[in-house]
Formats: sequence, structure tokens, C-alpha cells
Amino acid sequence: MSTLLVKNIGVLQTPTGSYSHKGEEQGQNLKMKDAAVLVKDGVIAAITDMGELPVSEKDVDCVLDANYRLVTPGLVDGHTHMVFGGYRQHEIPMKIKGATYLDILRAGGGILDTVRHTREAKEEDLVYKTGKFLDEMMGFGVTTVEAKSGYGLDMDTEIKMLSVIDRVNRAHAVDVVPTFMGAHAIPEEYKDNPDAYIDLLCDEMLPYVKEHDLAEFADVFTEDSVFDYAQSKKYLERAKELGFKLKIHADEIEAIGGSRLAGEIGAVSAEHLISINEEGLESMAKGGVTAMCLPATSFYLGVDFAPARRMIEMGIPVATASDFNPGSCPSLNLQFVMNLACIRYRLLPEEVLTAVTINPACAIGRGDRVGTLEVGKQADMVIWDAPDMEMLCYRFGSNLASRVIKKGKIVK
Ligand code: NIG
Ligand code: FE
Repeated sequence: MSTLLVKNIGVLQTPTGSYSHKGEEQGQNLKMKDAAVLVKDGVIAAITDMGELPVSEKDVDCVLDANYRLVTPGLVDGHTHMVFGGYRQHEIPMKIKGATYLDILRAGGGILDTVRHTREAKEEDLVYKTGKFLDEMMGFGVTTVEAKSGYGLDMDTEIKMLSVIDRVNRAHAVDVVPTFMGAHAIPEEYKDNPDAYIDLLCDEMLPYVKEHDLAEFADVFTEDSVFDYAQSKKYLERAKELGFKLKIHADEIEAIGGSRLAGEIGAVSAEHLISINEEGLESMAKGGVTAMCLPATSFYLGVDFAPARRMIEMGIPVATASDFNPGSCPSLNLQFVMNLACIRYRLLPEEVLTAVTINPACAIGRGDRVGTLEVGKQADMVIWDAPDMEMLCYRFGSNLASRVIKKGKIVK
């Protein structure tokens, strides 16, 4: 058996319970001063006061001194598009000169540009590139991530992307949860007949991905000029029938019914929600859908921020994620997302911690093992160069993750 003792924790701060936290509970964290955590075989065996250590230091394999700093659960990034060919820095001058995200996509660029590069890319090169991104994320304190396909939009490339996700998940310390997002854009070959592409997704791609167990979730981009309400519904109904859990990119730019559909169809989460209206909010609250809010995307697109404060007041569980992708958010820094969640969404530090730990963990089907520091849970932890959560919400642009522990192993 391997054992690790993390001692001299100034403040151990964590949500508790393995379920999505909504309303007042979003802001309830356990805070323990002068604490210690004992880990056995990658699992938390005890959380105690420093004065009541359950073992003597000489009896454990490794002792890590937190030096009276803050310790939280490892961060969970619940929404990324981290597997992609090429980059899109050439869009910067277009954006500065006034082109919007949808202008670029409608002109055959944007996601479609990344699709061309991802189709051309060798699987080995994508594995290497994605592994580097995971290293960088882990350095920021992220220990579990979700990753979507959706830059293939054909059977072979979508499978290649899901295979990359599977390979990096096996090889890397960070856990990666796969989502199939074949409905990320209308491929150029189908631009005059998007319904035929939805049929291909429903009749061939979703069944293949399910049969080979390549993804746990199915996601769709419900948006003006992409998939409309009816097409999204057809795709998600088929995915549900096959046994996928559901996600929807909803109301990112135009509210065309995506968040309403999320509530109606029982999606686990709806993503973006910048333009959500009253009807969408009510549908999500009623359907128990988690709001996966992506403030770094609002920042990068220069658009409004989702009404996350209002969502908490309405009893919708709020998670915040990076949305790391080559177009609308080329940053994977979840600490910056935490700064924005506080300063732009007006979330309190406790609410922010819930939004980057247990709520995204539940939204990607991992709430039973990660997202909180509790006995029996996986020992995923961060020791911060900070005395408290307020400091993490306040300092921005720096990396305050000092030590990162994944399944009881020190990985940074
Ligand atoms: O979540 N909005 C759709 N999908 C991604 C962006 C993908 C891209 O631009 O490459 C998002 O923002
Ligand atoms: Fe996204």
C-alpha cells in the first residue's frame, strides 16, 4: 500500500457531497484550519486536525508540507475542445477589423478551418499536442477534464479524435472524459442539405460511437446558422435512445431554443448561455440542468457574460469551464476563469470553488469520485500559493497552483 500525508494545511476548503450544488448550497464550503489529509492507495483515508494525526509521520511513504497554505480539490474543467489540428491566430486581424464569430464561420472559416486541419492531422501528432495541453492544464491545478470531438464531421476523423481522447486519458495523469460532438457544425459537403448530415449522425455515427463505447456524452451546437431547434432535438433524441448522456451548446450567440430544449429533453448540462432568456432559464431550473458557463469565451469574443448570478438565485447549479478551443477561447487557464466568474459573474469565492469542482464533476459523470475532499474520494488536490480562496479570485494572470496531487501522486 502507498501512503501520503499532506500536513500543515492552513485552510482546507471544499464543497461536500457528491451531487450538483444549487441555490444557497452553491456557496457552502467546508473550511478546516490546521488540517491534514492522509491518502492510502490514491484515495482519501482521513481528514483531521493537525493535532490529531491518525498516523505518525515515520509510518507513511511520503509527507508533503503545505506550509500553512490553502488546499482545495483538484479543479475540474467540464468543457473543452482540446483535440484539434492547427491554430486560428490568423482570425485575430479579421476580428479586430470587425468580423464576428458567425461571420467567419459563415464564410467557411472558423470551426470549418479547424476541421480541414484536423482531418489532415496524423493521430500521433494529435496525441502529442493534446498531451502537451494536458500538462499545461495540470500545471494550473486541473486534474479532470472533459474533451469533445467535433472537428472531424466525418466518420473517420470523429473516430480519430475519440481515439486521441482515449489514448491521452490512458497515458496521462489527468482523467479525460469523452464527449461525441459530431454535431458541432455543418460540414462543407452538406452545406446545402444539413438534414442529410443529421441523418448520417443519427443513423451511422451515433450508433457506431455507442457500439464501440467511444464517448459518454453527446453534444450539439444549437445556434443560428448551425443546427436549429428541430435538428438538435432529433439528434439528441436519437443519442438519448442509444444511452448517451446529453449536453447542448445553447444560446451562445442567439437564443433559438437550445436552453429550453436542454430542460425539455433532460440534458445533464447546457453550455455557454450568454443570450439565455426567461423561458430558457425556467426550463433549465425545472429540468435540473447544470449551467456550464464559459466566461473566458465571453471575454475573448468581447460579448456579454451569462447571467450566472441569476441562475444561482433561480436554483440552477452553475459550473464554469475553460471551453479551451482554437477559435472562441484559446486559453486553458481555469484560474483565469475563476477570476472572471468572481469579477464578471459576481460569484462569491465559495460559489466559484463549487463551480470548478463538484458541479462540473457531476456534469461530466465523475461526482462520485472527484470534486470534493472527503474520505473515500480520489485524492485529487491542489496546494495553492495562497492563504485563502479570496486570493485566488483576486490575483489574475499568475499561476498560483504550487503543488498538484492526482490519485495520491504528486504530479507538480
Ligand atoms: O464552444 N461554439 C461552438 N464551439 C466552440 C468553439 C469552437 C471553435 O470556434 O473552434 C465553443 O465556443
Ligand atoms: Fe464549446
